[in-house]
Amino acid sequence: MRSRPVVTIDGPSGAGKTTVSKRLADAAGMIRVDTGAMYRAVALAARSLGVPWDDPVRLGGVARELELSFRVLSGVPRVLLSGVDVTLALREPEMSMGASAVSVHGPVRVALVAKQREMARDGGVVLEGRDIGTVVFPDAEAKFFLDAAAAVRARRRQLQISPPGAQSFEEVLRDVLRRDVQDSTREHSPLRVADDAVYIDSTTMTVDEVVGEMLRRLPGVPR
Ligand code: DC
Repeated sequence: MRSRPVVTIDGPSGAGKTTVSKRLADAAGMIRVDTGAMYRAVALAARSLGVPWDDPVRLGGVARELELSFRVLSGVPRVLLSGVDVTLALREPEMSMGASAVSVHGPVRVALVAKQREMARDGGVVLEGRDIGTVVFPDAEAKFFLDAAAAVRARRRQLQISPPGAQSFEEVLRDVLRRDVQDSTREHSPLRVADDAVYIDSTTMTVDEVVGEMLRRLPGVPR
């Protein structure tokens, strides 16, 4: 039994999971785990080790050996890979496609899911990703599926890209749509709405409205 809840936020690229999960975790006094960053880190580590993104066996090894830590430095969340700050490198468009590519492989998913379960074992954690409510924590105390229209998601994603302006809106939209197909049609843990998830369409909602809606539905959080 966990003494504190596990909260899951799944949804497609650019739905607002990152912004919302940070705000929700702060408001509820919880830790946030960005599972997309873990898949991005596998793609980045593989690239620097010369392991191709279509080699499931070697990628499984990369995922198992991944030395990843999440820190908050001066109020800003950072991701360290083998002690090196890779926060910006992980947001490059190439790593978005790389993460989507490596995440189709079973051995990669098995290794990262084990790490995610371990990180959130005692609860008090908000996890954002694609399969958290369906596969990683099917017994989570609160599950959300955050969605938005593709054009709105592409616009939001464009604002996060490193370096700023690296891709046009049309390029970002094309990548968002390509990842939607790849993430939701893959064999292992495809993106889908859990039966017991609360579905939120954020197309015309502000961040405050989305976070407020989620906070109202969290068990055992003072408000
Ligand atoms: O959330 P993100 O854009 O950082 O995720 C990058 C890719 O990683 C996404 O295209 C699919 C994959 N991913 C996944 O398969 N499962 C997760 N729990 C999180 C991300």
